[in-house]
Amino acid sequence: MLVSRSAGVEREATVKPHDRIKNLPLAQFDSAAYLKAAGLADGDGRIRASMRGKYDQVNEFLKVVAETVGPAGADAAKPFTAVDFGCGKAYLTVALYFYLVHVLGYSEAKVVGVDRRADVIESARKMAEKLDVADRVLFLESDIGAYNAESVDLVVSLHACDTATDESIAKGVEMHARYILSAPCCQHELQKTIGPQSSKPFAGLLRQGILRERMCDILTDAFRAMILRILGYKVQVMEFVSSEATARNIMLKCEYGVKPGQPGPVGEYLELRDWWKVVPWLETRLAPLLEKYLSRYD
Ligand SMILES: C[S@@+](CC[C@H](N)C(=O)[O-])C[C@H]1O[C@@H](n2cnc3c(N)ncnc32)[C@H](O)[C@@H]1O
Repeated sequence: MLVSRSAGVEREATVKPHDRIKNLPLAQFDSAAYLKAAGLADGDGRIRASMRGKYDQVNEFLKVVAETVGPAGADAAKPFTAVDFGCGKAYLTVALYFYLVHVLGYSEAKVVGVDRRADVIESARKMAEKLDVADRVLFLESDIGAYNAESVDLVVSLHACDTATDESIAKGVEMHARYILSAPCCQHELQKTIGPQSSKPFAGLLRQGILRERMCDILTDAFRAMILRILGYKVQVMEFVSSEATARNIMLKCEYGVKPGQPGPVGEYLELRDWWKVVPWLETRLAPLLEKYLSRYD
């Protein structure tokens, strides 16, 4: 996991290549059948060159899961439910299940993958059947907004598009997820309202399309992190894969556990929001939960 760009360099030099592979999450359990079924490995078990990026991404994602959720310990026999919103072909969904059970020790884990595309849900179901886990790794063809469950332990959403990321975060909050791991994708919502007219000192920057896009990405993620903080989550914004692998390498790593509605986070949020004269999509979506905290300061 890339938390800082420079800290790992010296340490890496002393780690032998073999040790590095052994320490990868996908090498910490018998993942051969999964790697083949997911198409990450060929018939001889070698990682396909074309799938190397995905293989690395799954490993990095599982490292974040380990760091966030931690070993089951005394909770080994308790139910543990994870939902993967916008699961796509389910590389991560299925790996997450095996990792939760075989490495972290959540023997009663259940993982649900949700995607609105019928074709990916069908192929994901086939993969789960092939691996004999179809009763523990379930797939639902549905819009994220239509998914409902009373409670869930972990919500995951990697590269769901635009406001689908916000919807996943909102669902996580509403389902009282203890952990939310969200890697945003393309973000268009703020770009519709922010332009050179929004802020005089930034006019020159915002006139350049690419810079405006990046600025809006950063602002969107900052608003998301701040809203989650207001609602009681500890939030870390991190790079979970290298920026060479994908420019979409930011992850919001969240764990519930701080007092909601504290004046500090609320004040910071309102100040930034009002300075830019915008209402983030996530605020509108979570208005019923946020209103009581924001209205005190408006
Ligand atoms: C770029 S793919 C990412 C797949 C997977 N999470 C991964 O990282 O490998 C995004 C997926 O999100 C799904 N998606 C986007 N918006 C959605 C929505 N509102 N409801 C359900 N699925 C959605 C798309 O169908 C697509 O399969």
